[in-house]
Amino acid sequence: MYDLPSVLPVGLAAVAVGFAAAGLIVWRDLGPFARLGPVQRVGLAAALGVGVLAFTIKLSIIATLSSLGHDTLAPTIADPETDQIDRTTVVGRPVWRALPEVAPSPADDPPTPAKIELGRRLFFEKALSRDGASNCASCHDLEGAGGGDGRVTAVGIDGAVGPRNTPTVWNAAFQARLFWDGRARSLEEQALGPIANPIEMGADLAEVTRRLAAGPEWRAGFAAAFGDETIDPPRIARALAAFERTLITPDAPYDRFVRGDATALDARQLRGMALFEEVGCIVCHAGPGFSRASLLAPEGGASGLRLFPALPSDYEAKYRLTEDKGAARSGRAGLWRVPSLRNVALTAPYFHNGSVASLEEAVRVMATVQAGREVTETGRVETRVEWSAETGRLTRRRPLPLSEAEVGDIVAFLGALTSDRLAAVRTKR
Ligand code: HEC
Ligand code: HEC
Repeated sequence: MYDLPSVLPVGLAAVAVGFAAAGLIVWRDLGPFARLGPVQRVGLAAALGVGVLAFTIKLSIIATLSSLGHDTLAPTIADPETDQIDRTTVVGRPVWRALPEVAPSPADDPPTPAKIELGRRLFFEKALSRDGASNCASCHDLEGAGGGDGRVTAVGIDGAVGPRNTPTVWNAAFQARLFWDGRARSLEEQALGPIANPIEMGADLAEVTRRLAAGPEWRAGFAAAFGDETIDPPRIARALAAFERTLITPDAPYDRFVRGDATALDARQLRGMALFEEVGCIVCHAGPGFSRASLLAPEGGASGLRLFPALPSDYEAKYRLTEDKGAARSGRAGLWRVPSLRNVALTAPYFHNGSVASLEEAVRVMATVQAGREVTETGRVETRVEWSAETGRLTRRRPLPLSEAEVGDIVAFLGALTSDRLAAVRTKR
């Protein structure tokens, strides 16, 4: 990256030299050689001068374009659903922003207090499960487990153990892609999934609708929210989504910091914030939602899936990172939605299979397999020499290091993404 004021004088001087050279050549050499009169010599010099100018402009355009930097960390991959190639590039330096105070709602389905209240009741309603024993909050404990369940993978109806970790519902309202593999594109689309999922709540939607319709207080609730007493799955989904859009946390120390309170982060968290940018975490965990799959990310989250693990490492076998391929159709690694990192300190264990218990270890894994760093105690790495019998060549490789202290700094920064309110209810318990 270059900065304009410092290169401008050099550029202008170069253009002036170009002009002078063109003039001299015409006057001293070309003019006499072609027997041109003074007027013709001035004309020819002017024409050459224009050429110099045009060349200068072309050069500056090329220099500007090539200085914009490219997103080398995020492999170019096809979106499995649309088959579109993701050519996301990060232009310039990232801008740190706070989470908005209100989550976006569909234009044709504005939230109303009645709809939100109905959604809240549904979220805690056990009649939504086949055996009447569980509700959404059974797995998405809003206060105790940061909106998840604290388990490795979810445990649903009849104790059935699901294949994936339960993500938090806090700030899901900002995600353009939901579920670990990004298969749902809105909260409305997502909401009915767990009710009917045989190992989550295991219920039949028609049966759930009948159960609710038998209760006069539910009919009144739907009438207040939607204008009449009709109870159907789309309305259940819309009410749940309206409630979930209130589950947002714009009250983290990070938000206070970027809104102007310079004391909201301590020195360690600030170092972690700089590392988060420098190491490239921000390429994928971008924007105030800390996710490329967020509505607040560049392109509204359309390019929110990434290869994980993107680079080979011992972690792959240790944490069984490639057993589940996520959204990938084929290939060695899986394709996964970039999750938000808001409140991540409250939502252990980590990754789609919940295989990593601590945030430190999750950061080590990410730095290694997504950002290509080598984590060492001291922050120093040895040059590695690799021999390939196939090509008959030696290659020297020296990965960029990340020290354990720096891992700690990043973890401290991630802690600054924890909502003050959620942290307070957690410590009360
Ligand atoms: C048995 C536990 C369980 C129950 C009950 C449950 N969920 Fe979930 N929820 C999960 C798991 C596991 C996932 C991730 C599944 C996946 O990615 O394949 C998830 C994902 C989600 C997500 C997506 C979050 C994100 O960031 O992608 C939302 C929103 C959500 N659930 C809302 C609900 C609602 C609303 C209910 C009640 C109707 C509910 N859940 C009931 C376990 C549960
Ligand atoms: C190339 C994109 C990319 C980069 C760079 C990246 N991540 Fe991730 N991150 C992901 C994806 C994709 C996942 C989801 C993995 C999965 O599905 O299990 C993830 C998951 C995580 C998780 C686990 C979240 C949870 O709720 O379980 C943490 C923590 C995390 N990243 C932190 C970081 C940090 C810190 C960095 C920088 C050192 C970083 N990431 C760099 C794409 C990326």
